[in-house]
Amino acid sequence: MPCTIVAGGFWGDEGKGKIIAYLALQDKPKIIARAGVGPNAGHTVYHRGKKFGLRQIPCGFVYGGARLLIGPGVLVNPEIVLKEVELTETKERLGIDQNCAVIEPHHIEHDKSSEHLKEKIGTTGTGCGPANIARVNRTAKLAKDVPDLRDFLTDVPMEVNDSIKKGETVLIEGSQGFALSLIHGTYPYVTSKDTAASTLAADVGIGPTRVDDVILVFKAYVSRVGEGPFPTEISQEKAEEMGIVEFGTVTGRRRRIGTFDFELAKRSAMINGATQITITCLDRLYKGASGAKKWEQLPNEAKRFIEKIEKEIGVPVTIISTGVELDNIIDMRSEKL
Ligand code: IMP
Ligand code: MG
Repeated sequence: MPCTIVAGGFWGDEGKGKIIAYLALQDKPKIIARAGVGPNAGHTVYHRGKKFGLRQIPCGFVYGGARLLIGPGVLVNPEIVLKEVELTETKERLGIDQNCAVIEPHHIEHDKSSEHLKEKIGTTGTGCGPANIARVNRTAKLAKDVPDLRDFLTDVPMEVNDSIKKGETVLIEGSQGFALSLIHGTYPYVTSKDTAASTLAADVGIGPTRVDDVILVFKAYVSRVGEGPFPTEISQEKAEEMGIVEFGTVTGRRRRIGTFDFELAKRSAMINGATQITITCLDRLYKGASGAKKWEQLPNEAKRFIEKIEKEIGVPVTIISTGVELDNIIDMRSEKL
């Protein structure tokens, strides 16, 4: 799988961070490029006993041999980027595209004070929407205009396409999730850009013909932060009974919880052109699945659930996450592909 995109299948927070980190260590990509909206995302990864909640730097940083890139379609907040560079010690291998639009303090202020954005839509308040408005209006500042980012500037599409041409492994890290797409999601309760695989490819500057695999990540249940429709939502009490209580990485808001949405998953797989499915947090739904590393170790109930997903969606489930540690994972790619 020379060029693989990892995309979120529902409303974000499917656990892409851990999956990217696992794939990075396992497949050793030459390049890991971050796509998606911007620092409204929070990708969680545990590395060397430490928890990282990354909003700009690719989670694949855990593999030290990869060049780390942020594509021109991604919004950057220079303050957050610089903080994460320190935290992850990635100064030498991070590249930011010169054409990334920049989030400025007034974008954040607008996002946080607008009745429409903050109250009605329930945005993350990170300035992404207003910065994308500025980009469309052609008034946004670009990364090349920011002295603090000078050392990192590069041509991401050129680097990624060169690498693909040489047959190297490239991993593209999407953010958010399908149902948050401005085009395909639950409008108006969505983010400020499309979040499906085609746009993730465009975010880093590669054409559709260059993509070999789209791994679509679903959590075993569904969560959503912010306002908007949620067909399979359950009550907070019911979620608590199931032992599922989650808070947003970026905003700290409590996430709404629901059961796996097969209809949404089908549509998500179709529009993303998914070639593989990853199911995360299976251990939170089936306690007996905790820490499993092989299919045979899963409780029967959990196996039936996975088989139902494959049958309904018509795409193989190749990776299953069974806990927070990177080795709490069942990787069936070699058997199923
Ligand atoms: P915005 O992207 O900050 O404008 O927020 C718009 C909607 O998208 C809100 O419901 C947010 O909670 C949601 N959202 C944006 N990014 C993420 C994410 O990475 N995970 C989950 N929800 C997100
Ligand atoms: Mg998140």
